[in-house]
Amino acid sequence: MNPILSDALHIIAYTTLVLFGHRIFLGFYKIFYVFLFSKPKNLKKLSGGANWAIVTGSSDGLGKAYANELAKNGFNLVLISRTLSKLENVKNMINEKYPEIEVKIIAFDFGKSCYKDYEKDIFPVLDKLDIGILVNNVGQMHKYPDYFHLFLGGPEKVAELVTVNTLPCTILTAKVLSKMVERKSGIIINISSASGYHEMAKWSVYSGTKVCVFKRG
Ligand SMILES: NC(=O)c1ccc[n+]([C@@H]2O[C@H](COP(=O)([O-])OP(=O)(O)OC[C@H]3O[C@@H](n4cnc5c(N)ncnc54)[C@H](OP(=O)(O)O)[C@@H]3O)[C@@H](O)[C@H]2O)c1
Ligand SMILES: *[C@@H]1O[C@H](CO)[C@@H](O)[C@H](O)[C@H]1NC(C)=O
Repeated sequence: MNPILSDALHIIAYTTLVLFGHRIFLGFYKIFYVFLFSKPKNLKKLSGGANWAIVTGSSDGLGKAYANELAKNGFNLVLISRTLSKLENVKNMINEKYPEIEVKIIAFDFGKSCYKDYEKDIFPVLDKLDIGILVNNVGQMHKYPDYFHLFLGGPEKVAELVTVNTLPCTILTAKVLSKMVERKSGIIINISSASGYHEMAKWSVYSGTKVCVFKRG
């Protein structure tokens, strides 16, 4: 082979390898950074001394884990979810471990509520509290992936999923933000999903709502 061509091919091959290796390294670094190198942030400082945190969808899964961690960090909690008995269980679990933490629970179905319901059932509780942290966690997935016209539960379930995944995040942020801006401190965490980065086939409704949560940052 012509030596110049051979050198050029070598350069291209090695450059590709280096770039590829770099991407793989960055991917792993991002995952392990959180567990190995990052230092916990001082939540009390970032929330400017406001010691109440709201977590939506907090009777299960990630929301329950957030509630537990925030209690551990000394925050009083407003837990908002659909099922009262599950909320009571979480409240009891937290109070057993952290008796000094105050926990308020609100049973509220985000999928079947409109703005007026927030005004009636949620805002009066929030108005009396100094909110330092809002975790917009509540979210639903499709029961299983399928073509849109076969969505389990039909249009009504589609409407519920879109409502649950987008409205609470937007309305509650709008509600707590002005006091945070006034105080120049506060934390808002939106839980999106990998499907907000890459649309997932046959999960289009879920993906769409998660793009919405993801892209508003
Ligand atoms: N799990 C994952 O692999 C994953 C991956 C990426 C992103 N996420 C996102 O992370 C968030 C939490 O997911 P998860 O897996 O922890 O969920 P999960 O275990 O299914 O828990 C969902 C929570 O939301 C509440 N909830 C559901 N529908 C509600 C409604 N209509 N009104 C009020 N509360 C409602 C549930 O309350 P009740 O059970 O009391 O009704 C429960 O507390 C979601 O936004 C999800 O999209 C999850
Ligand atoms: C979280 O959602 C709220 C309400 O839509 C939005 O205003 C905010 O910019 C979002 N934050 C991030 C980091 O995406």
